[in-house]
Amino acid sequence: MDKSFQISRRTFLGRCSATAAATGLPLWFAQEQLAGAAEAVADKPTLPSPNDRPGIALVGCGGQGRGDASNAANYGEIVAVCDVDQRHAAAAAKKFAGDGKTPAIYNDFRKVMERDDVHIIVQGTPDHWHTLVNLAAAKVKKDIYGEKPLTLTIDEGKHVVKAVRSNRVVFQTGTQQRSDMRFHLACELVRNGRIGKLQQVDVFVPAGLREGPFHSVPVPDGLNWDFWQGQTPSVDYVKERCHTMFRWWFDYSGGPVTDWGAHHNDIARWAIGLDGPVDVEAKVVTGPIPGGYTTPGEFEATLNWANGVKQVVRTTTDDDWGGWVLNEKGQRNGVKFQGTEGWIWVNRDEISASDKELLRAPLPSNAIRLEVSHNHMGNFFSSVRSRKDPISNIEGGHRSASVGHLIVIALRSGRKFQWDPEKEIFIGDGAQLGNSQLAREMRKPYDYSFIG
Ligand SMILES: NC(=O)c1ccc[n+]([C@@H]2O[C@H](COP(=O)([O-])OP(=O)(O)OC[C@H]3O[C@@H](n4cnc5c(N)ncnc54)[C@H](O)[C@@H]3O)[C@@H](O)[C@H]2O)c1
Repeated sequence: MDKSFQISRRTFLGRCSATAAATGLPLWFAQEQLAGAAEAVADKPTLPSPNDRPGIALVGCGGQGRGDASNAANYGEIVAVCDVDQRHAAAAAKKFAGDGKTPAIYNDFRKVMERDDVHIIVQGTPDHWHTLVNLAAAKVKKDIYGEKPLTLTIDEGKHVVKAVRSNRVVFQTGTQQRSDMRFHLACELVRNGRIGKLQQVDVFVPAGLREGPFHSVPVPDGLNWDFWQGQTPSVDYVKERCHTMFRWWFDYSGGPVTDWGAHHNDIARWAIGLDGPVDVEAKVVTGPIPGGYTTPGEFEATLNWANGVKQVVRTTTDDDWGGWVLNEKGQRNGVKFQGTEGWIWVNRDEISASDKELLRAPLPSNAIRLEVSHNHMGNFFSSVRSRKDPISNIEGGHRSASVGHLIVIALRSGRKFQWDPEKEIFIGDGAQLGNSQLAREMRKPYDYSFIG
């Protein structure tokens, strides 16, 4: 091991205790995880010189894109930024300027893909643009850190998986809860039967916004509204359809279940250990206001998995849509695993169990181990160098996004469907209706031909 990673046993144990105290994780798990992390860092190939930092382009310079690019800037140089809103592109270029260099500004991502000095695409566009940007990047063999949910539809996911694999690019989906030790511990314990046989997974996501009606207004200077809308139906500009709020419109996204659901359903799937459910049904609890956001603020869905696990996905109004606590005594967003011998609850703040011993007792040396990552962006750059899959690989990103898309299809159809997770098609009663919703018509010129 590299000398720089050799720390005294005392220092190591001190770090483990501090991590355990700060996170509420059991000490045995913190020790295992931190020991694993030191080895993972030591395994990383060293760069020949500080100049050998990959060139990064940010496509989609809104809130999350800028946040992701800030993390990526620890591992490479932001050489280009791209947005269909010039104000957002300009703000990002200013943010990532330094050492006398300012990233080049683009409004059309296809031009970014032509640059040889761009090795990596960080992509933070709204959901309805993810697929075409990811496909364009994969085609010219650029590695991609792409935001969740992977796609707008299940069919798009099949295209992206194929392109990523056939072009051999590294793809990390922005489902960063896989790089969080609490979620890792919960899933590893469940996989090892710590709560007996897993029977039910309850997923709680923050309720979506229920607002409206909204009215069209002039398109702001600097925003290319037609380009922003891309493949979706063309409508007059409505501020609440655009930045940040696009997630509450079925045209661009899926509401709470593809927003927070992309994270918590990914964790549920990690613990369940299967590709997809065998059936899905969903009901709207609070419907939209006419002329307002189109995704229901509150809903409830039930999915069954081939190993007998029932998954219930529900909204909670006790956390706001960003995940902040509204009602201290209410239902937090998170995931609860219920087994024949107890339960484990986990979210971004805590992990708890029906009996503390369920968390305290170490796993045996022959236990099933899940992949370890403590830093989602770092894990991606490590994979860029090793060419091994990162923790949220493309198939995982696709399958976890599909859970949300299946719920959206059931919500919008108002009926129960049977799903074949192997063939990725609906089967049985209602199959024709379901299968007609696996893809959407893409408005020209923003269909697959747009990227050549
Ligand atoms: N991983 C997480 O925890 C997390 C958190 C928040 C958002 N997200 C995801 O990140 C994505 C962006 O969300 P946001 O909240 O930052 O949205 P946002 O509206 O703030 O930003 C999106 C940006 O993309 C730009 N854009 C739209 N079409 C484009 C195109 N064709 N080319 C280039 N730029 C384009 C928009 O103009 C805007 O600046 C969403 O898919 C969302 O689900 C992930």
